[in-house]
Amino acid sequence: MQSDAEIGPPTTFDPNQPSVARMYDLLLGGHEHFESDREGVDRLLQVAPNSRTVALINRAFLMRVVEVLVRDYGVRQFIDFGSGLPTQRNVHQVAQGIDRTCRVVYVDNDPMVLHTGRALLAENDNTAIVWADMRDTATIFSSSAVERLVKSDVPTAALFVSVLHCIPETNPVPPAEVVRRVRRFLPANQPAYMAISQLVSPNQEVRERITTLMAELTSNRWGEVRTASEVISYFDDMEILEPGVVEVSQWRPAKRGIRSPEIEWEEFGGIARAH
Ligand SMILES: C[S@@+](CC[C@H](N)C(=O)[O-])C[C@H]1O[C@@H](n2cnc3c(N)ncnc32)[C@H](O)[C@@H]1O
Repeated sequence: MQSDAEIGPPTTFDPNQPSVARMYDLLLGGHEHFESDREGVDRLLQVAPNSRTVALINRAFLMRVVEVLVRDYGVRQFIDFGSGLPTQRNVHQVAQGIDRTCRVVYVDNDPMVLHTGRALLAENDNTAIVWADMRDTATIFSSSAVERLVKSDVPTAALFVSVLHCIPETNPVPPAEVVRRVRRFLPANQPAYMAISQLVSPNQEVRERITTLMAELTSNRWGEVRTASEVISYFDDMEILEPGVVEVSQWRPAKRGIRSPEIEWEEFGGIARAH
């Protein structure tokens, strides 16, 4: 797959180097990980003991977002950026559980996501996976997967759930620019939605400590823990849906959850109508 020169190719497989996808899978209780990932998660839990809870809360947010978009907003096609290892319940299972015609393109830069994703999705004609860096929008939107599954006359959602913190602000294509680029590609004459969540902390010392650890664990293949207001800024001038951009357990919960007061970091996010 061709890549944008300023971005470079997706990541290569290295079992000795913790991967974000595998560490997250481990936090969720999955089985697609190696010794390096287990050691990485142990070190992360020392610095941020609530990381497992944060991952589970985030995955539940993703499931609610998809359900609400299909059921209440008529969305029938999704592009899921930084989709993660498909070992859990996935976007297409939730969406197609409501309407089996829903189509999903998964995008991830981790080769293991591509490998397991291909095996899992092979029997579902309405899903596909693109192995690419999410910043490389030209490659993604000209891929055969997007050409086949993303139609111009269908309400569409782009998902950036727990992934924008993988890009540093100093990157030539920082998170706000990725969101802007993707927004331009969403079908123009149909309702389009953007879901975003990202790791935040109000405490600068915590932000720096976790950012430094993740950079070390991933050999600088990570971005940064941010502030809530930085996440809000990624929605730019889009119309943010109720209840706004919030700690994600509070985003349209099935039951109103009680937040732990002892948090190190949390996922902050919401949905907006892009046009
Ligand atoms: C924390 S997981 C989130 C998975 C899923 N979105 C969720 O919320 O449950 C982040 C995923 O983003 C992927 N990722 C990180 N940086 C990326 C990039 N620049 N382009 C595409 N995928 C990326 C990782 O490989 C990983 O699978």
